[in-house]
This record gives sequence, C-alpha cells and structure tokens, in this order.
Amino acid sequence: MTKNTFLIGLAILLVGCKEKSTSTQKIVEAETVGLVSSFSEPYRPQFHFTPPQKWMNDPNGLLFENGVYHLYYQHYPEDIVWGPMHWGHATSKDMIHWKHQPIALYPDSLGLIFSGSAVWDKKNTSGFGTSETPPMVAIYTYHLMEGEQTGRMDFQTQGIAYSLDHGLQWEKYNRNPVIKNEGIKDFRDPKVFWDDTTSQWILALVAGDHVKFYRSPNLKDWKLLSTFGENKGSHGGVWECPDLFSLTVENTEEEKWVLLVSINPGGPNGGSATQYFVGDFDGEKFTTSQKEPKWIDYGMDNYAGVTYNNAPNNERLFIGWMSNWNYARDTPTEVWRSAMTLPRLISLHKDEDGYYIKNYPHPNFDAICSAKEMVTTIDLSEPFLMEAESFMQTDFSFQADLSKSLEVRFGNASEEIVFWVDPSVGKLYFDRTKSGQVDFEKSFGSQIQSQPYRPSESLSEVRFVIDQSSVEIFIAGGKYVFTNQLFPTQPYTQLSITGEQQSLMNVVYRDVNSIWNEQ
Ligand code: FRU
Repeated sequence: MTKNTFLIGLAILLVGCKEKSTSTQKIVEAETVGLVSSFSEPYRPQFHFTPPQKWMNDPNGLLFENGVYHLYYQHYPEDIVWGPMHWGHATSKDMIHWKHQPIALYPDSLGLIFSGSAVWDKKNTSGFGTSETPPMVAIYTYHLMEGEQTGRMDFQTQGIAYSLDHGLQWEKYNRNPVIKNEGIKDFRDPKVFWDDTTSQWILALVAGDHVKFYRSPNLKDWKLLSTFGENKGSHGGVWECPDLFSLTVENTEEEKWVLLVSINPGGPNGGSATQYFVGDFDGEKFTTSQKEPKWIDYGMDNYAGVTYNNAPNNERLFIGWMSNWNYARDTPTEVWRSAMTLPRLISLHKDEDGYYIKNYPHPNFDAICSAKEMVTTIDLSEPFLMEAESFMQTDFSFQADLSKSLEVRFGNASEEIVFWVDPSVGKLYFDRTKSGQVDFEKSFGSQIQSQPYRPSESLSEVRFVIDQSSVEIFIAGGKYVFTNQLFPTQPYTQLSITGEQQSLMNVVYRDVNSIWNEQ
C-alpha cells in the first residue's frame, strides 16, 4: 500500500463520518415575511449568511452593539431579482450563527433604501435617545425612482433613521434628507464612523468617480470636508460603497488609514470588485502616495464589502456580498439569491512593495468546524489523490512552497475547479470554467482568473473553504484571495494535488457543520 493510497483510505474514513446536513435540516422560520424556508434547497450555503427568501445584495449597517453583531442588507422581499430596496436584518453573537429579523427599513416617499451604515450614538449627539438609552442611527441613501425616470440628476440623497430598541424597530428622521444632492447622478452609500482624534462624525460617500468626506457633530448637520480619487486608483466603472478606517501596521506602531472603494464594472477579473488605498487621514483629507490600484480579492464574487463599526477588541471585521453585478440576477437558485462572504479579519502589513491588507476568515468560524484532522505531511513525489463523500462543506489547508509550481483540483466525474501557482510568471490562477452550471451568463465561466504574487515567498498557507455554492481561497494568510461562486450539478468528491513541490506541510482537513442545524 503506497502512502497516498493509505491517505485516500483515511480520507474516506474521515469524510464518511461527516454529518449529513440535508437529512437533519431544521426548518427555520423566517420572521422576516412569515415564510418558512428549509435552508436545504439546492446550492443553499450551509455556513454563509443568506436571506431566508428572495433577493439580497450589499451588506449594510454593520454594527456591533450591546453584545450583538447586526447585519442589515440590501433586500427586495418580493422577488429573487433586484427591485425596490429595503434593509433586511439579521443578528448574531458570533457573526457565524444568524437569527433572521424583521425587515428594518422600508422605502418611503423620499425613495428606496439603498446602501449605508449604522452607528451607536453613545453620547446621544443626535438627541434621538437619552444618555441612558443612546440610539442606534442608520445613515443610508434614498433613491427616488420617479426622479431617475424623469431624467433628473439629484434623485439620490442621504437619510437617517434611529432605533431605541437595539436595532429592531426604526424611526426615520422627520427632516430627511440630511444631505441633499446638487446634481450628481451617482451619489450614495454613506459610511459613518466616530473619529476619536477630532471628536466628530465622519461620513464618506461616493460621487461617481470619487469619494466625498463630510463631518458632523450630531449626525444631522453635515459639512463637506474634501474629496478623493478623481485621478487615483481604478476607474473602469462607477465607485460604490466606500469605507474608511485606521489600522496599525502589523509588528510596528505605525498607524495608517485604509479606504475601501468598490467599483463596478472594472474589477481585475471582470465585473464588480473592491479596490483599496492605504494612506493618511487628518480629520479632513485622505491622502496617499499609492500609485497602483490594489484589490482586496481577485475572485469574481466579493463586492460592496465594508467593515463593522464598534467591533470588540479593536478588530476590523469585514463582510462582502458574494456575487457580481455581471450575473447576480442570473445565478441558478430559486428561493433566495446571493450569500455573504465569511466574516473576515482585516490586518495591515508592509513589505518591499509597500502597504497591503490581508483578509482572512474570523477565528469564530473554527467553532463550526470538526476537530482538526492533521496529516502532517503529504509527499508530492507522486500526485496526491483523495476521495470523499462530498467536499461541499470543507475547510482544507496546507503549507506549500510558492516558489515551486502547485495545482489543486476539486471535482466530480465531469466538473472541477482548479487553483494553480505558476512561479515562472509570478501568478496565481483559478479556473471555474468547468465547475458545473456556468452558462446562465456569459462571463461567469468564460475566463480563467489570475492575480500577481511574489514567488520568493516560500512556505505559505493555502486554504480552501468550500460551501454548497462557493469557494474562498486564502493564500499566505489572506494576502491573496479568490472568492467565487460555483454551481456543480453533483457534489465534488475528488481532490487531486500535483506540483514540483516535494511535500505539503501541516495539512489540515475539517468538515464544516451547517449553521442552520445548530440553532
Ligand atoms: C452596490 C450598489 C450600491 C447601491 C446598492 C443598491 O452593489 O449598487 O451602490 O446603494 O447596490 O442596491
């Protein structure tokens, strides 16, 4: 018996024990619209957030308050395609297990409720609450459909609403909008945070091809401070969903500011993607010496991601929408459409190429993974093959020498996804062209995705997190990421690894439980 056949046997044993999540699905009642969802439909993610029913896009109002993580989201409760936007709502103690909550914000006479953020107004600067009951305040974009249809340019404005019961019920401010529009067609997605240094609220929103920064003492009266980006970064499409926050550069005391800006289209592998800038913010202006655009994720399915306000332990926590406007409306699901990425921890680093951020699954995710099954080393002098009943709820990682070639495939009899490393050109690749259903839209499966990397970085972690209809690949602790949806017609049951490497180190295989079973 060769070592690899032994490992295949071991793998079958491990995976054979895997809990059959679909057979024990608990029926989860969605309070949202009084509808029942089984959460076991084909392609339903088992550990990524999805709405019980209907359409979802951007995460909104990410706020940790009173021990609870809030996730509001762009939601159309009547259909599985985009339509008049509401803010759907879910709450969590760990960002992994979610409780669906009633819809938080409905459209009104000022417009649909587009993307935005939420803050905990601890000092009651807005006066919406009291010092004993400080309010939560949501800041969002009103999109007036009638205005758009009649050819006006000022149909997007910014409104606010407040909640005195920890984010369940919301009252809109009776003097909305708080920021009017002076004729900018794309004027939206306000992200607000409290700036400790200058003791004021800062708001960043996008205006077509740039970001505008405002300040306010009370969340109601806003003053324009500055703009950023007309000739910086990538401009292949409209700028959307900005976020600004500070981070300390890992292993130093240097503090820098990071500005996230989503862009659609114009992503590095097509369609929607999120670029970022590392620079400085002095309470008025954001500046950077960064020349080239940087991307948080080179996969095709991580868009409109933003970070939590008020997160515990000073953590910078990110959630993105796991889709792409190229085909978001066409993916082959029926009861609901779209999922969020895993919650990710963002950290800031510096190397000879300058500053960069890593984004990597939050450790809370470990709680739903089976105990670590360690196979310390895999010999790659011959191809490594492994079979499982299903790889569709799996977390698989190892350390590899990225100065040597490597190829990893997950598949079934006729479908596969392939990730490979080509040090000769300094690129990482991901191919989903034969991943399963791909022809519901032309760009979904037509192209191999790639991203540059530094081959000199030896021994780095390569990690695959696979759910029923997605794969998130994190290389070098999230320095390089590919997030992608997939729609195989059968579960992937085969894994093969080849490459010029002699061996893979610290191989870890884990099953991932369903969050819907555990509630
Ligand atoms: C980003 C976006 C935002 C907008 C929202 C509308 O995906 O286009 O700019 O506020 O979606 O649903």
